[in-house]
Amino acid sequence: MSASSSSTSSSPAVRRRYAIVGLGSRHELYQDAIEVAHAAHAELVAICDVNPGRIEVARQRSRRNGAALPRAYIAPEFEALLREQRPDIVIVTTSDASHHDYLIRAMEAGCDVITEKPMTTEADTCRRILETQARTGRRCRVTFNYRYSPPRSQVKDILMSGEIGDVLSVDFHWLLNTHHGADYFRRWHAQKRNSGGLFVHKATHHFDLVNWWLGAQPVSVMATGKREFYTPAMAKRLGLSGPHERCHTCPEQAKCGFFLDLAGTAKLKSLYLDHETHDGYWRDRCVFRPEIDIEDTMNALVSYNTGATLSYSLNAFNAWEGYTVAFNGTKGRLEHSIVESVYVNGTETVQGGVAEDGVKIRVIPLRGGGYDLQPWSAAGDHGGGDRLMLEDIFLPERPADKYLRSADERAGAQSILVGIAANRSLQTGA
Ligand SMILES: NC(=O)c1ccc[n+]([C@@H]2O[C@H](COP(=O)([O-])OP(=O)(O)OC[C@H]3O[C@@H](n4cnc5c(N)ncnc54)[C@H](O)[C@@H]3O)[C@@H](O)[C@H]2O)c1
Repeated sequence: MSASSSSTSSSPAVRRRYAIVGLGSRHELYQDAIEVAHAAHAELVAICDVNPGRIEVARQRSRRNGAALPRAYIAPEFEALLREQRPDIVIVTTSDASHHDYLIRAMEAGCDVITEKPMTTEADTCRRILETQARTGRRCRVTFNYRYSPPRSQVKDILMSGEIGDVLSVDFHWLLNTHHGADYFRRWHAQKRNSGGLFVHKATHHFDLVNWWLGAQPVSVMATGKREFYTPAMAKRLGLSGPHERCHTCPEQAKCGFFLDLAGTAKLKSLYLDHETHDGYWRDRCVFRPEIDIEDTMNALVSYNTGATLSYSLNAFNAWEGYTVAFNGTKGRLEHSIVESVYVNGTETVQGGVAEDGVKIRVIPLRGGGYDLQPWSAAGDHGGGDRLMLEDIFLPERPADKYLRSADERAGAQSILVGIAANRSLQTGA
């Protein structure tokens, strides 16, 4: 470890040494934070990916950011990266099923780690991360950016205030539209071995929100799930002769409402299409192809150690994107909903952006009339949550956070284990 290493604090004069592994669209947030917004406290010393093309794109990004070029390592050289660059912190933004491998190796080498959600996809790899963290004492942080979005912090604030009393049950329904929702069926997410399915990959955000909102631990899960929309049969019902292999070469591009134009979208072309010869990663596989094995319609019933219960659903082919959540408490009910704007990963659209007047927060006491609250707001991705989270990660001196939004490996585990248990429930029927 470098002399600047510290897991709890650092002097503003010292720039902490970061490495990023996984250089797809999500990593850009962290690279820019290190090289631009937080360059006074942070430096990017190394980058790593399986794809040499995306490594070069990330180096070009450093040039544009006016930063020193990070040293580049191809994935099998990760041990050399750790040995030669001695990062203080490794940020893991690879596809989900490979997170654990980098987290464990980095902690073993004495680094703190920051991982994108989901922390991992399986119970066994989750246990290994927890064991490694406990043995090495390194800090493991899971970037649950949804916690930082102002309306979701506001919900936490209302629940903490005791306004609706003790929460006995929660109804939570998340809708993905056929832009963002369809995108999970185009690439690596569409196989459970890569993503854990949407119960893990996507719902980790939602289960974490409930765990954090309630300050409770999940204890049991029952689930159902199916895929009935992103199927070969649906392609036929929509008047296509397919499914076909991918959008880029699809003979029915003009007729298909799910066509993704990799060649015609500059960002998608430069990040994915231009580099697929290296690794065969097609960003635009047909959403109706038969080999998809994740669900598009899911329901779960979760019980918590506080006695609260959660009724949850996730649907990936909806007419609008966002969610409704209601907390039923001993003194009243809290209703909250968000309608999100259209987003496609890897394009210039804003992720988790909120539609005009898209946020509603209403409290209805058991006696007396209900009232609407003015939603807290901030600009940027995930309703302003990403910027606040980056400040929490990168600023050396941070005020105490009464909402406890920074998430560690235990929060990472508790959210994915709900999804992993839900997947098991789908398999066993129990
Ligand atoms: N918090 C959020 O809101 C949010 C949003 C988007 C993505 N994410 C998460 O970020 C991660 C990356 O997602 P993305 O959309 O950028 O995906 P992506 O496919 O665009 O990028 C993944 C990158 O990792 C590289 N990679 C894959 N396997 C690797 C391995 N074994 N070793 C090294 N490099 C490897 C790929 O070549 C690619 O460059 C995922 O875990 C995803 O869940 C989180």
